[in-house]
Amino acid sequence: MTDFEYIQTKVEGELGFIELNRPHVLNAINQKMVIEILDCLERYDEEESVKVIVLTGNGRAFAAGADIEEMATVGAVDIELKNQFRSWDHIAEIKKPIIGAVQGFALGGGFELALCCDLLFAANNAEFGFPEVQLGIMPGAGGTQRLTKLIGKTRAMEWLLTGDRMSATEAERLGIINQTFMPELLLEETVRFTQKIAEQPSLSVRMIKEATLKAVDMSVAEGMKFERKNFSLLFSSEDQKEGMQAFMEKRKPNYRGR
Ligand code: CAA
Repeated sequence: MTDFEYIQTKVEGELGFIELNRPHVLNAINQKMVIEILDCLERYDEEESVKVIVLTGNGRAFAAGADIEEMATVGAVDIELKNQFRSWDHIAEIKKPIIGAVQGFALGGGFELALCCDLLFAANNAEFGFPEVQLGIMPGAGGTQRLTKLIGKTRAMEWLLTGDRMSATEAERLGIINQTFMPELLLEETVRFTQKIAEQPSLSVRMIKEATLKAVDMSVAEGMKFERKNFSLLFSSEDQKEGMQAFMEKRKPNYRGR
């Protein structure tokens, strides 16, 4: 995939990488970058050899938010009609796990993108926050909703209303990120972890991701119905037969993703 201007992509083994790539502006996300990220996610979702997607940033930020220069002069009508940030909603439709690796700043729209990831690792120098309030706007790509669902109203209000930046340690304590690493180990450790998921039977991974995301929006009763449906469905897969047969024969399973 070479036809992107603002992201770098590569497939290594079973992992598909997306690196935000405007380091001179701390990977500020412009409208075209939003389209490119989504386009690449969809391509990886279609590509059978890719099992898990890893999202990172080039340089000293994951992303320092939406591109303020691009946003500074637009009006409400343009925001309503052309704002690509609403595409972040489509990220939830990506079926493969998306693992974020955050070094440096993840602010505003960058933090919102990180919150769309299924698992999040960070360098211990990472800083998260929603500085929108200090610019006379507010988060517009899920910040008020996703952060609140994740850490609760009282805590979310604190960060959303002040625009203060939270450290990686604080983000880990609040359950926003899975684990922190030394900056120089972040990618290596993220890949090591991601590899564990890539080795699992991909239909199970897909069904588990789908059911777990439902838990965020549905009641437990509705979510349970969904979980049971996916659970039953997996019993029609070759990998379920192979996984259980391999267990009984005391050998390593040979999964085919079917
Ligand atoms: N948009 C455009 N350019 C940005 C940017 C952004 N969000 N963030 C940083 N840059 C640019 C800076 O203008 C600067 O460019 P120049 O070298 O040409 O001057 C370059 O990146 C490096 O930034 P700094 O010199 O400011 O670096 P620093 O280390 O002193 O500060 C920072 C880093 C604290 C992250 C600071 O850059 C900053 O506050 N950035 C803006 C963060 C922000 O407000 N983000 C929210 C945007 S709104 C949003 O995201 C809305 C939404 O919900 C969709």
